[in-house]
Amino acid sequence: MTEPAVGLDAIEIWTGKCKLDLANTFAPARDEDPEKYTKGLGLRASSFPDTYEDIVTMGANAAKRLMDREGLTPADIGRIDVATESAFDNSKPVSTYVAGCLEQVYEGDFRHANKGERKFACVSGTQSIDDAYNWIRAGRNRGRAALVIATDTALYARGDPGEATQGAGAVAMLVDVDPSIVTLSTEQGIGSMDETDFLKPNQQFPSVDGKRSVQVYLSRMREALEDYESVAGRVGVEDFVFAPFHTPFPGMVRKAAVLAYRHVTRGTEIEDALEPEIGRQPREDDFDGRESFETNMRDYVDALSGTERYRTWYGETVEPTLGIAREVGNWYTGSVHIARVSALLAALENDRNIGGETLLVGSYGSGAQAEIHAETVREGWREGVAAADPFDRLAERHSLSFAEYEHIHDAHNHEVETEIEAFTEPNGEFIHAGWGRMNERKYEYVE
Ligand code: CAA
Repeated sequence: MTEPAVGLDAIEIWTGKCKLDLANTFAPARDEDPEKYTKGLGLRASSFPDTYEDIVTMGANAAKRLMDREGLTPADIGRIDVATESAFDNSKPVSTYVAGCLEQVYEGDFRHANKGERKFACVSGTQSIDDAYNWIRAGRNRGRAALVIATDTALYARGDPGEATQGAGAVAMLVDVDPSIVTLSTEQGIGSMDETDFLKPNQQFPSVDGKRSVQVYLSRMREALEDYESVAGRVGVEDFVFAPFHTPFPGMVRKAAVLAYRHVTRGTEIEDALEPEIGRQPREDDFDGRESFETNMRDYVDALSGTERYRTWYGETVEPTLGIAREVGNWYTGSVHIARVSALLAALENDRNIGGETLLVGSYGSGAQAEIHAETVREGWREGVAAADPFDRLAERHSLSFAEYEHIHDAHNHEVETEIEAFTEPNGEFIHAGWGRMNERKYEYVE
């Protein structure tokens, strides 16, 4: 019996409704060169939630938009999983709040839908898709689809080097059989180790060893790629049309991409073709010690990144995945999922026919684990992706002055009491409306 094709049938994106311009507002206040942000990190702006937004409102608003567009009711959904690393409760999952919001506006309820919350830093959005995939493949879904929501308010302590990479938003995804956008490969690769690079030990803002986190990302990603190749066969640069990767900031993906390219071209005709220009890839056996091997490898990778061949590949396969991230910053659990949408939107804009083509998707969570799998683009991808286009809404965000940014950061800091006015008007969306008797959050739908 052939297994049913399972994957993403619909996607919706909700951005926090404010933005911080990094080059024009953040850099001058920090007395830094704007190009550190635009060129070094590769970011133009970060999204921030307005005062009445949080991970629940952003997730529920993305989900409502998805359900309205797909004409779904609660009876069509058998599972709601929320992936987040910004949860405010160690017991009651965010998915119950999201379900409660949606039940305010739809006939019926989610009483028989399985709800949960996934945690493994940024990789948990992909893990939730895995859970949904496995649930459907196991035949436990009773014909219903799964709603996966990746939602985060990615804030760092003021003055932390990570402050430039903040962001806030949610991605809602419908996982179903015979999906319209992509199917997922059964094969997947994992690179996982106990690491202390980025963590939140019962605290809102992360403790980060930024430089180390970059190295851990690269190492776990390489292991995940090798593990993926051990089950799916050797990967070649021509095998996939786009490579959406977890994007804490685009500069991170730039570093990962050249290492991945070096790995997959080793011993191939591409290495041969590049030899006259940059030599062959260093092999460890040819060196006396690890240190001289690593120095030579760094030089090779530097030279590789400057070749026309590599730059063309990067421009076609990786650069299109970064379009949304540049405008919104890090959305943690949602980050790789906006990278996928960015790539598909770029294909749409260039009128490319990518039905049947492959995406190589790389997810990553600090602490740390990377996951790599392939996705096949379905013939119906265009319509679903066009509907998820967030760029008009990104353009409508309220642009924060630096003083307003400080207020909004305080408004979302659990340790600070603030009374500030919202910068935008809610319109046809869920809002955080206050607190209940057991300190639970209360939500309302505003017409
Ligand atoms: N013009 C052009 N480029 C400039 C520049 C200028 N004027 N000034 C600096 N740069 C470049 C730097 O050379 C550097 O690029 P390279 O790494 O390619 O050399 C880049 O801009 C950043 O500069 P710094 O390294 O000096 O920046 P920093 O030390 O202030 O902070 C960071 C960088 C450590 C990544 C910090 O942003 C951070 O801690 N971020 C949070 C952690 C993070 O995102 N880690 C990523 C991997 S972990 C992960 O992926 C999980 C997750 O989502 C958090």
